Amino acid sequence: MKVFITRKISNDAVNLLRKEGFTVDVFKSNRPITKVELIQKAKNSEGVISLLTDVIDRDIIDGLKKCKVIANYAVGYNNIDVEYAKSKGIVVTNTPDILTHATADLAVALVLACARNIRAGEKIMRDNEFKGWEPQLLLGVELRGKTVGIIGSGRIGQETALRLKSFGTKIIYFNRSKKAEFEKSTGAKKVSLNALLKSSDIISLHVPLTDATYHLLNRTNMKLLKSNCIIVNTARGEIIEEKELIKLLKKNKIFSAGFDVYENEPDVNKELLKLKNVVLLPHLGSATNEARSEMALLAAKNIITVLKGKKAITPV
Ligand code: GLV
Ligand code: GLV
Repeated sequence: MKVFITRKISNDAVNLLRKEGFTVDVFKSNRPITKVELIQKAKNSEGVISLLTDVIDRDIIDGLKKCKVIANYAVGYNNIDVEYAKSKGIVVTNTPDILTHATADLAVALVLACARNIRAGEKIMRDNEFKGWEPQLLLGVELRGKTVGIIGSGRIGQETALRLKSFGTKIIYFNRSKKAEFEKSTGAKKVSLNALLKSSDIISLHVPLTDATYHLLNRTNMKLLKSNCIIVNTARGEIIEEKELIKLLKKNKIFSAGFDVYENEPDVNKELLKLKNVVLLPHLGSATNEARSEMALLAAKNIITVLKGKKAITPV
C-alpha cells in the first residue's frame, strides 16, 4: 500500500512506514504542495500525511479515491473538512499531547518577550546602540501578582497556566466545561469570556479554531481589555479579529501582543510589521526536535494502524 507525505518530515516516520512494508512517497520541496499536485501525487495512496498548511477540502478528498486515512501532522485540524472525509469513509487523525509542552513553553516565551521588551533590547545590541546601563531603558512589567486569563483550558492551556503560575500569577480561565483537576492544581477560577477580558493582565489563547471560536476576540469584546494587557496567541490567527487588535496596539490601548499565528498565514498584515509593541514569530509552537519527531512517528503509527484494519490511535 502507498503512503504519501506532503512535505519532508522526520525520517523516523518514513523509515517506520517502509519497515512496515508501505511504499512511501514524499513531496520534497521547500514550499507547500498545491492542490493540483496533491491530488495528482496522492490519488493512488491509501494513506496521506498532511500538514496544517494543506487545505484538505472536498475537491481534494474527492480526488483521493483510494485514501483510507489522513494523518494530520498537527494538533489542530481546521485545515481538513473532517465531516466530508468521514462521509467518504476516510479516518482523520491528529497529533495531540506530544506537542503540548513545546507549545506551552513558547506561549510563556512570548509572554516574557512582551513583558520585558526582549525584542527591542536585542535590536539595540544588534544595531550596536548599547550605551551602557540606563535607569529608564526599556522598562517592562513583572509577572508576579498579575492575573493570567487562559482562553481554552485543554492540555496546552493548562500547561501554559501551570508554567505562568510558577511566576506568582493568579489564574482565571474561560472554557466550555469546568476543569476540576486544573482548578485544584493551579487555583484557577472559571469565568465568563467578558470577565476574563476585563480582568486579565496577561491573556493566552488555546482554543482550537472552529466556527464557534472564529473571531472569538473581536472589535466589540476587545474594548474590555485592560490598558496594561499582554495578549499572546499560539493557537490560530483567526481566533482574533486581527485588524481590530492591530488598531488597539497602534493606539497603545493595550501593552503588547505576541503572535505565533496570523489570520492570513503565511501573509502577514503589513501594519503589524511596523508596530513596536508586538513580538512576531513564524508559527513555531510545536517547533522542537522532540515534538516534531514524536508528531511524525504518531502520524506514521496512525496510518499503519488504520491501514492494518485497526482503530486509529488518535482519531479526531
Ligand atoms: C500547530 O499549530 C498544530 O496545530 O499542531
Ligand atoms: C491540545 O492538545 C489541547 O487540548 O490544548
